[in-house]
Amino acid sequence: MAHEENKAFLRRVPLLASLSESQLDALAAGSVRRAFPKGRTIVAEGEPSQSLYILLSGRAKVQRSDSDGKEVILAVLGSGECFGEMSLIDDAPRSASVITLESCDFMAINKDSFKAMLAQSHDMSVKIMKGLVKRLREADKKIETLALLDVYGRVARVLLDFSEQVGGERVVKSKLPRQEIAKMIGASREMVSRVMKGLEVDGYIVPAPEGKLVLREKLSSYLH
Ligand code: CMP
Repeated sequence: MAHEENKAFLRRVPLLASLSESQLDALAAGSVRRAFPKGRTIVAEGEPSQSLYILLSGRAKVQRSDSDGKEVILAVLGSGECFGEMSLIDDAPRSASVITLESCDFMAINKDSFKAMLAQSHDMSVKIMKGLVKRLREADKKIETLALLDVYGRVARVLLDFSEQVGGERVVKSKLPRQEIAKMIGASREMVSRVMKGLEVDGYIVPAPEGKLVLREKLSSYLH
């Protein structure tokens, strides 16, 4: 029963869409489904790796911290995305920690099953490569943002990245605490609060019900 359920979950993951029934069977045999509450560390920076994870629901942050405990958020992952593949590929320790931002469901695929599948499925290898390239493109964009934009531009970049088109408006729908924004752009929480207040007073962003935020078109002028 658990096997069939796991297989059904795996079948819905875009990364695994090209696998045959027997390949999915093999992968499901090496997979377990896990649920974690908010604030749980799923993968810890510097630890050896055992599994690849696929986020089935919820959001999780990818974070690194220095020896003083200062933290930087590298990315926020959503449902359908995978993580933990880097250390499985190069056998180095985990490159970052992954921590749940809300309650999350995962599939954990063990290392041997993942490596066997990578060797068998050209299509899956290409998808993993595309995922890594996408991540590198996003990291390049982030380096550019941090190097070239002032703090208003950095906040604008994060808000635009987390927004989606709803009807005729760009809206940030998910809660984005100021502390989390600060960790994404290397600024203090107080500075982010000041910038957000300024953007609101000047009509670049408009608070909406349920903690949502409507972004006005002129916000993108901070990116130039
Ligand atoms: P791994 O190094 O095994 O464990 C931490 C995981 O975080 C890593 O694999 C990736 O899956 C993920 N990760 C690391 N850096 C980034 C990044 N810049 N953007 C998105 N995900 C990342």
